[in-house]
Amino acid sequence: MPVSEAVALRESVRQYAAVPLTLEEVSALLWATQGIRRILSAESALRTVPSAGARHSLETYLVVNRVHTLSAGLYRYLPFDGQLAQLRLDAQIGHKAAMACFGQDFIATSAVTFFWTAIPERMEWRYDLAAHKVIAIDAGHVCQNLYLAGQTIGAGVCAVAAYDQQACDELLGVDGDEEFTIYLAPVGKRRA
Ligand SMILES: Cc1cc2nc3c(=O)[nH]c(=O)nc-3n(C[C@H](O)[C@H](O)[C@H](O)COP(=O)(O)O)c2cc1C
Repeated sequence: MPVSEAVALRESVRQYAAVPLTLEEVSALLWATQGIRRILSAESALRTVPSAGARHSLETYLVVNRVHTLSAGLYRYLPFDGQLAQLRLDAQIGHKAAMACFGQDFIATSAVTFFWTAIPERMEWRYDLAAHKVIAIDAGHVCQNLYLAGQTIGAGVCAVAAYDQQACDELLGVDGDEEFTIYLAPVGKRRA
């Protein structure tokens, strides 16, 4: 699909077909949002999204509901390894994610929901108070790429920032201080 078409058709989608995503489709979405393009050193790399100072302070967690060959549960993307780490299996995790977002029920019906956390220390040593601004800007780039990449596999996406901070941090198992939830986006195949 030409980029111009993906941009023109982009919209927030909150209703999803019951069909699962394949692992290959999820892999393509992960690559579009955080994939490594070039490794610079043991600590730094260039990715498919820009980041202030190439600090890349964001981490990706997947709440999996309906993905071929993946059991429902919580996973973490390891971009340098091109792998998913299974954190825990939980058949109710989609419902719990919706509850952690003030009951936005459509989140429970997604095939997979991308959760992004920030590790502020990666930015703060360099940008001081401006770190929080550039972390938020970075998150916008990531979610926009998810919207556009979703188009190419017939999937709809909806950005979500209305969430309970503590509930989402607990869902992901992050401490809310050194690492905290910043943004999320449910994804699912579009209904015909
Ligand atoms: C930062 C941000 C936060 C958002 N949070 C929510 C949300 O919590 N729930 C929701 O249903 N939509 C959310 N949206 C989606 C917006 O409602 C949507 O982008 C807007 O209505 C415009 O529609 P469009 O994306 O289809 O053009 C959010 C969008 C952005 C950019």
